[in-house]
Amino acid sequence: MSALAFTPTSTTRRVADDERARILADPGFGRYYTDFMARARWTEQDGWGAAELVPFGPVQLSPAAAVLHYGQEIFEGLKAFRHPDGSVWTFRPGANAERMQRSARRLALPELPVADFLASLQAVVAADEPWVPEATSEESLYLRPFMFASEEFLGVRASHCVDYYVIASPAGPYFPRGVQPLVVWITDEYARAGTGGTGAAKCGGNYASSLLGKREAAENGADEVLFLDSETHTSIDELSGMNVFALTRDGRLLTPALTGSILEGVTRSSILQLARDRGLAVAEERLVMSEVLEKLGTGEITEMFACGTAAVINPIGEFRARGGSWQVGDGGSGETTLALRQELTDIQYGRIPDRHGWLTRLV
Ligand code: COI
Repeated sequence: MSALAFTPTSTTRRVADDERARILADPGFGRYYTDFMARARWTEQDGWGAAELVPFGPVQLSPAAAVLHYGQEIFEGLKAFRHPDGSVWTFRPGANAERMQRSARRLALPELPVADFLASLQAVVAADEPWVPEATSEESLYLRPFMFASEEFLGVRASHCVDYYVIASPAGPYFPRGVQPLVVWITDEYARAGTGGTGAAKCGGNYASSLLGKREAAENGADEVLFLDSETHTSIDELSGMNVFALTRDGRLLTPALTGSILEGVTRSSILQLARDRGLAVAEERLVMSEVLEKLGTGEITEMFACGTAAVINPIGEFRARGGSWQVGDGGSGETTLALRQELTDIQYGRIPDRHGWLTRLV
């Protein structure tokens, strides 16, 4: 049972019904926010407390708050899905709660108990239920729990005061072009994370370090950037916020092993399970970029895709780098890629049985 009760301080809606309906008709990704947010505070002296559900709005922070200077911050990403009977569910929240605890350990932040993490999601989605898009669509309510060092202190040490929030944002496709094959730029200049660093943690710093690579990708007409390992610049790590998979002609599904510099994606691990279920041989191993590009040329690798909570599963149609470009398969959306996407979203939206017990009811 949760120790924290996210008690509502107001029931007044921020956004009028007709405005919310207009937003839900085309939410995009990360553009709009719901009426409420949950928050709690941890202090070194008293532990977790001050849990409440408040209207969505600005966070008041000292300009000397440690997070603004040293980046002591972590976050999570989940979605709430409307099912055909109107109920609202989320996908593997325990896995996100536990990953947030691992991220917290790496960033010297306090661990939020799993039950409190779940209670915070439940409180926000119950209050923001009208914001969960209809069951007919591929849209969902994206949930963003996050935690940051809020102590007013400029010394370099773990903060003695930490704030936790959950905000929610109605979401359509992550990429503006929808589920279309991505052009991925392979950066030879930047790395996302290094050995012994924070690559496996879901912390803002990893995403900040990806931004210049992402800009380089856009300058080269690409949708996304792929980072290689920081030591040898030879093997695939991940994209700016997504894990990577490759399918071989003989039915093997490959993804980079979790070496410490790669995010332990919840979607990644779900795909490995669904692939095993459909008889694919799965392997988590070192994927050498030059070998992958060669195998794309010979047709030995037939499909590649990116995955994450926000992006779900998105085909990769082409790689670009300073040395040239490489088409994946016929450049379109691979059959197995789309089948895995369909199966995963069918489970999430309650259209087929949840045989792995991945769903948790929120409302
Ligand atoms: C997610 O997929 O939920 C993430 O946090 C990644 C980010 C690129 C949106």
